[in-house]
Amino acid sequence: MHQLNPLPPGPKQKPIVGNLFDMPLVDTAKAFAKWQGLYGDIIYLEALDQRIMVLNSFEHADELLSRKSYSDRPVPMMLGELMGLGQSFPLLRYCTAWKDQRKLSHLALNPGAIKGYTSLQAEAVILFLDSLVENPSNFMSQLRLASGRIVLSMTYGVPVKSPESMNFIDELEIMMEIIGKGMMPGAYLVDTFPWLRHIPSWVPFNNIHTIATEGRTRLLRVIGLPFEYVKQQLASSSPNASFTATCLQEEDAADMEHHIRWAAGSMYGAGSETTMGTILTFILAMALYPDIQAKIRMELDRVIGHGQLPTLDDRSRLPYVNAAIKETMRWDPVVPLCLPHFTSKEDVYQGFRVAKGTIVFPNIWAISRDNVSGIPPEEFAPERFLDTCVEKTALDPYSYAFGFGRRICPGRFFADNSIFLFVTGLVSNFVISPAVGSDGKHSLLKVPFRQGLMRFPESFQVSILPRSEQLAAELQARAREMSESDDGCRSNL
Ligand code: HEM
Repeated sequence: MHQLNPLPPGPKQKPIVGNLFDMPLVDTAKAFAKWQGLYGDIIYLEALDQRIMVLNSFEHADELLSRKSYSDRPVPMMLGELMGLGQSFPLLRYCTAWKDQRKLSHLALNPGAIKGYTSLQAEAVILFLDSLVENPSNFMSQLRLASGRIVLSMTYGVPVKSPESMNFIDELEIMMEIIGKGMMPGAYLVDTFPWLRHIPSWVPFNNIHTIATEGRTRLLRVIGLPFEYVKQQLASSSPNASFTATCLQEEDAADMEHHIRWAAGSMYGAGSETTMGTILTFILAMALYPDIQAKIRMELDRVIGHGQLPTLDDRSRLPYVNAAIKETMRWDPVVPLCLPHFTSKEDVYQGFRVAKGTIVFPNIWAISRDNVSGIPPEEFAPERFLDTCVEKTALDPYSYAFGFGRRICPGRFFADNSIFLFVTGLVSNFVISPAVGSDGKHSLLKVPFRQGLMRFPESFQVSILPRSEQLAAELQARAREMSESDDGCRSNL
């Protein structure tokens, strides 16, 4: 009966290849959003045999993706099976193993548990701010380090300041680039033609097995090294507290070891670049919109005190700061096409056939272009979320930027706290402005963004200067004090 319903509209398909050559490879989410004018909010494509549906509106994404049968994931052959990433729960099918790992992650990331990480998050942010006083032009690599350290410390108890953290983070960064590329449909030929994996490696020009072996080796290192670190810690007299340590000390730990290893690795992989990308976008926005930066600073000075660092308890007293965080997540969402969902059953939606085995992309980018507040979506304007400023406030990005339904990001509360501490620390202590070249101009309007699963500004120059010498000295003193104090992860798991 489903077969009688028409498929949703989309670009005209060519024989055999379908829409293979229509798939936008650059700024994919933006290109799908532009198609909205031609085909509407539900768009259908077929690349060779793979069915793809794009949902360009919040209503459709919210309604469809909360259904059980849309909670599955497509598992790309190269990344999922040949490299082995299919064992991590962001890529697991909707199955018992996924439920087990998801439950474990809830242990670490529920709203109560995350209170125990506040001090390690604050500590990593202060170290980051201190590094900006010394070397502001190095802000990107310092931010990468700080966001990685926060997740490493929560997941594995690696102390924020330890030298191990740098090695682990370097390994993770390379792996995340491979994952970002490999998650897009048809990234590797073997994803489209799975039978290619049977071609032996000695056949000329066949690099499938080389790429798979390199990826698998790297992945096992990324997941394995910090896990072994925890095991060594547990054998010592005073192990650091962490998600992995707590799980490994449970009675049924031996049976669960595989899931603990992959749940920890999943959180570590999913949590670090997303936070970094969001803060990079915020820094870019602050350089481009000095008036907004001044308003955030004014609120912080008035409510918290000149150059003082707020705590998470101050959040409810900082409406403009909260609106600016929402605006950062909306203005350029870090995961613009979400993670792909996958249908496990035939369905009919709005009269259209949705076949079993369709990849479904909720287009977070398109959803974030909502114009109800009357403020153009391309402008960075926290005012769109404040009912004191606009008649109708914009759709809250917390309802879409972290995904949908059963697959919604389990790290959203933890991420939100880190973002608050970074954003407030930066603006209360520094002034961010465009770095001007020898021609007196800046190039922030043409900043290249990372392509693939995650999107964030990749290389750009800004000036980040302390507001005063006194504030810089205070920050340095706090960072020094922390270096001298006892170290360790302060988890309350
Ligand atoms: C700004 C920060 C972040 C953003 C914007 C973000 C966004 C997302 C999105 C859009 C998804 C896909 C949801 C779906 O499929 O519907 C996701 C999944 C996931 N996120 Fe996050 N995330 C962030 C930070 C974090 C952090 C800090 C962690 C862990 C510490 C984390 C762990 C995960 C995991 C494990 C999944 C897979 C969930 C599953 O498949 O069941 N994320 N995230």
